[in-house]
Amino acid sequence: MVKTIPTLCGSIASQPSALEAAMHNAAYAATGIPFTYVAFETENTEEAVAAMRSLGIRGLGVSMPHKIRIMKYLDSVDDTAKRIGAVNTVVNNDGYLTGYNTDWIGAVRALKEKIDIAGKRSVVVGAGGAARAIVYGLLKEQSHVTVYNRTISNGEKLAKEFDISFGGNIENLNVIKDYDILINATSVGFNDVKNSIIPAAILLKDKTVLDVVFIPAQSKFIRDALSKDCIVISGIRMLVHQALYQFELYTGQQAPFEVMEKALTNGINKL
Ligand SMILES: NC(=O)c1ccc[n+]([C@@H]2O[C@H](COP(=O)([O-])OP(=O)(O)OC[C@H]3O[C@@H](n4cnc5c(N)ncnc54)[C@H](OP(=O)(O)O)[C@@H]3O)[C@@H](O)[C@H]2O)c1
Repeated sequence: MVKTIPTLCGSIASQPSALEAAMHNAAYAATGIPFTYVAFETENTEEAVAAMRSLGIRGLGVSMPHKIRIMKYLDSVDDTAKRIGAVNTVVNNDGYLTGYNTDWIGAVRALKEKIDIAGKRSVVVGAGGAARAIVYGLLKEQSHVTVYNRTISNGEKLAKEFDISFGGNIENLNVIKDYDILINATSVGFNDVKNSIIPAAILLKDKTVLDVVFIPAQSKFIRDALSKDCIVISGIRMLVHQALYQFELYTGQQAPFEVMEKALTNGINKL
């Protein structure tokens, strides 16, 4: 394989963020691994994959709009990413490019820090890429999942593909009572301190909530849930866990959790 000095990893997105680079570079520095991480801004998926091959880039994080269309340019896609229908990580092994999805494991690891998932009743709001990864992870961990989504056809499609229940659109959330885990897997609340898709009235003491939103560090959903004494997991925790898994895929070594979480939190606080 073509080599770079130091070994290069990075991310591709139409709107790149410095946060992933901060996390990964902090982890390389802390572990002394001779890698570096750069965020690339690009709309062109095919050319980005060709560059990965020709320049010998070891690993790439994949964000919008590349997550689905990148699959056709790779040499293989692992079964989990195929089932989820999206790739957020590519690993280059001697010129052979494999696609993975680390979002599901980020959500599962973040949840399992606080609760057991098996047998629990989960409500997932959303039907996009993050929701698909989370539904996959919850089912793998033997949770019973119901999905709600603004656009009914998208919610029904996801429910049918994963053989789970569709609860209805967002208005139908107002009447739910029987759940153990409640997850916002939509972009509502992202960069927006005022709005939450989850009605505060359905938040109950000791129920577990997870928000995929990681900017701001405490979304309205998370603040509402804290005020109701829920067990709360922020999008930051999910994002760090999925990045940890990427680090492991790229370097073959264990990642330093606290270092990566601190780098991410510092980066978010500076925005
Ligand atoms: N913390 C993490 O580790 C992590 C990982 C991955 C993603 N994320 C975050 O997760 C969020 C979703 O990402 P994605 O890739 O799933 O996006 P996506 O594929 O575009 O899906 C967006 C979802 O949000 C819903 N939605 C968007 N605007 C809405 C609104 N105003 N009201 C109600 N529903 C709305 C969409 O519903 P419709 O079907 O009706 O359009 C859809 O279900 C993003 O904010 C992303 O940054 C976080």
